[in-house]
Amino acid sequence: MSSEKQRQLGVDRIKSGVPGLDELMYGGIPRGNLVVLSGDPGSGKTVLCWQFVHEGVTKFGENSVYVSLEESEEVIFQGALEFGWDFRKLVQQGKLIIVTIELYDFERLKVAIEDNVKAINARRLIIDPGVIFRLFFERELDARKRIVSLGKMLRTLNVTAIITNEISLDKESSLYGLEEYVADGVILLYHTRMKNRFVRSVAVLKMRNTEIMETLKPLKITGDGVRILAKAELFDEVK
Ligand SMILES: Nc1ncnc2c1ncn2[C@@H]1O[C@H](COP(=O)(O)OP(=O)(O)OP(=O)(O)O)[C@@H](O)[C@H]1O
Ligand SMILES: [Mg+2]
Repeated sequence: MSSEKQRQLGVDRIKSGVPGLDELMYGGIPRGNLVVLSGDPGSGKTVLCWQFVHEGVTKFGENSVYVSLEESEEVIFQGALEFGWDFRKLVQQGKLIIVTIELYDFERLKVAIEDNVKAINARRLIIDPGVIFRLFFERELDARKRIVSLGKMLRTLNVTAIITNEISLDKESSLYGLEEYVADGVILLYHTRMKNRFVRSVAVLKMRNTEIMETLKPLKITGDGVRILAKAELFDEVK
């Protein structure tokens, strides 16, 4: 075994709970990373985040904080329940906190995250949708400072965080925006055009502290949630 492989084995990783995803990173997201989950509308960002939280809490004993900047708690409860994920119960058990907050004040958001993560000793954090970055985009330097300070705080809290980011299908250039440079990792959910239809796909563009698989893989969404066909090539899927 190469020393590089041995080093990789030594990295503390978390299990995402999304079948196939961890294989794209040779074992899972390194613990404590701040990951941006980018994708076009309907690409599965929110479902993947729910699954990450649900499996994290129920299978791996990692309490979670879910910051929703758009939906109410009730809407999230109902949506997750369609996949059989009972978030209401997890909240009642004190294993999950859903924070619904309107984003006017970045400092308030930071305080809310810190307080809630500490309250249940959360190991996972979601911010969905992570429009934070775009709101401050006008003043790029300012935005960068805020994001860096958020990232630092998350690191001291020792949470593995996923922040979603909306991109449009025809503007690939927006992929390489501010957030991706500041984040430890970028996962891209994508509708890839194959002949006369679109195929859901996923790629890891970057992930600090680990090797990554550098190809697009097909992704399925079913009533059980998100599943990645990590062993298939994208073109196999459409044969
Ligand atoms: N039970 C199900 N079976 C199959 N597919 C489903 C099921 N429930 C939802 N979906 C698919 O999941 C997609 C919704 O994904 P999701 O809401 O996670 O997208 P998103 O990337 O968060 O979108 P947005 O940017 O609009 O927030 C829908 O396009 C729908 O096709
Ligand atoms: Mg969404």
